[in-house]
Amino acid sequence: MTNFTLGIIGGGMMAEAIFSRLISVGLYSPQEIIVSEPLESRRAYLQEKYQVETTTDNQKVAQVKSVVILAIKPQILGQIVPLKIKSDLLISILAGVSLEKLTTLFPGQAIVRAMPNTPAIVGAAMTAISSTINIESEQLKLAQRIFSAIGQVVEISESSIDAVTGLSGSGPAYVAIMIEALADGAVAAGLSRSIALQLAIQTVLGTAQLLQTKDIHPAILKDQVSSPGGTTIAGVRALEQGGVRSAVIEAVLASYRRSQELGKQ
Ligand SMILES: NC(=O)c1ccc[n+]([C@@H]2O[C@H](COP(=O)([O-])OP(=O)(O)OC[C@H]3O[C@@H](n4cnc5c(N)ncnc54)[C@H](OP(=O)(O)O)[C@@H]3O)[C@@H](O)[C@H]2O)c1
Repeated sequence: MTNFTLGIIGGGMMAEAIFSRLISVGLYSPQEIIVSEPLESRRAYLQEKYQVETTTDNQKVAQVKSVVILAIKPQILGQIVPLKIKSDLLISILAGVSLEKLTTLFPGQAIVRAMPNTPAIVGAAMTAISSTINIESEQLKLAQRIFSAIGQVVEISESSIDAVTGLSGSGPAYVAIMIEALADGAVAAGLSRSIALQLAIQTVLGTAQLLQTKDIHPAILKDQVSSPGGTTIAGVRALEQGGVRSAVIEAVLASYRRSQELGKQ
């Protein structure tokens, strides 16, 4: 056993997003964290920037007391086993890797499967978690605290994970396309690209904040800003003519189905 309490296997983008927030909210100190990562330059960067311990030895990380987070690419999983986990809790953020498969690799281990998304980098992630039945309530609460540090967290049944992937997992790409298209529209109407992008980003961010903070249904907000014979309803009509609602629904469903397919491979 070591003095480390949080171990992370794979020191990539998501790992950095998660542990940097855990440090900044004070849930773990850098001295409690150890990260395994094969790339020397990446280890040097993480060590220098966050003062965490780094290693190439995955087994050393698996010795930590409290929790190990698997943050490698799913296709690397076969390369890191066998691995003897000594920690109370294993958290996997690997897309498409089921609790059943993880339990086969780590029998008897309490496991949380989590699906975060890219806004984790700025502490605005949406993470869905599900867990094995042998998990204790304190372990589940710890997983919730960890993912609360990078944004919001919901507990779901694992059977819903592909739907989560379709919405919050893939969603940042859809919203980015929407923002780009909003800006394109304003550029077509004569605004500069930089101002158009600023307006588009802030409009999406502000609208999301308004819906969330005031707990308003989106349809109510849409009605509130659409005055009779006005500009907004003219735009809403154009959106409906373009089938935007159906296109977004189909995008979520396409990602959901692809996630189902990948999970079976
Ligand atoms: N990005 C997202 O939005 C998102 C959302 C939900 C879930 N996820 C999941 O999060 C996981 C990590 O994604 P990511 O975007 O952070 O990927 P990433 O940046 O590629 O991170 C993976 C890291 O693991 C390292 N690694 C490779 N082989 C290893 C080994 N044998 N032992 C230890 N570490 C090893 C890689 O090092 P090298 O660079 O040297 O290969 C890399 O630094 C994936 O499983 C993905 O499915 C990601």
